[in-house]
Amino acid sequence: MRIATTLFATLGLVASTVIAAPDNKHGNKNNGPLVINKKVLKTSSVPFIPHTGTGLFTNWVGLNVDFKYIQPVFQKVNSTLSLGNGTLISRGESHITVILPPEYDNILSKVGVTMQELNALATKNNRLQRAHFDIECLGRVQAITQPNNVFQQSVQLIVKNYKDILAYRTDVFKLFVKKGGNPALFAAENYQPHITLGFKNRDLFVEDGVFKGKNACFHKVQLK
Ligand SMILES: *[C@@H]1O[C@H](CO)[C@@H](O)[C@H](O)[C@H]1NC(C)=O
Ligand SMILES: *[C@@H]1O[C@H](CO)[C@@H](O)[C@H](O)[C@H]1NC(C)=O
Repeated sequence: MRIATTLFATLGLVASTVIAAPDNKHGNKNNGPLVINKKVLKTSSVPFIPHTGTGLFTNWVGLNVDFKYIQPVFQKVNSTLSLGNGTLISRGESHITVILPPEYDNILSKVGVTMQELNALATKNNRLQRAHFDIECLGRVQAITQPNNVFQQSVQLIVKNYKDILAYRTDVFKLFVKKGGNPALFAAENYQPHITLGFKNRDLFVEDGVFKGKNACFHKVQLK
């Protein structure tokens, strides 16, 4: 599986060409900041949703984010030429991925860490849904993928101040090591939390050579 993972990462890098972001970090003058209802941060009012399955990429941990506050943001982005330009597909739900499917499939599950354990850790005192975080900006990543030179773009809200989420990931790291995992293979802080709004064709990942951190900011947001 180590070989498969390396192969996947290598293929991803070879098959995608990342597109340089336009220089519009401070927002388009014609469009003020993207306004988001600040209640979106109060994720304790929506339930934790477990994501468990039998196939690859079906097991992961997410912090559920109320789509009621994300949908209008999606609509605004998708209908604004300089933001989404009517190109986006929405999943019809919103979350912050906390443990990624490849982390579970390739690393955690290999030493017997189970989804039941990860979910129990997440739901103890409703810990994950009660996590505090804030939103940094509207981010965008783009790449040309192979075969056929397909233009892909993914638009997301970049998350900042996520100490509580990192603390959860640190506890997952401890569980992993306790079960005999090699500490070199899981880094709690190697993580770029975001809320995906939508994408063109397919979503993009680290394997495509894109990083959904502050680096990807292209428009201001304002919570109120
Ligand atoms: C918007 O999308 C149209 C059709 O895909 C494209 O021709 C145009 O260049 C895009 N404009 C911007 C600003 O992205
Ligand atoms: C995004 O905008 C395009 C163009 O108006 C529209 O066809 C598409 O349905 C919109 N996407 C969603 C998920 O509403």
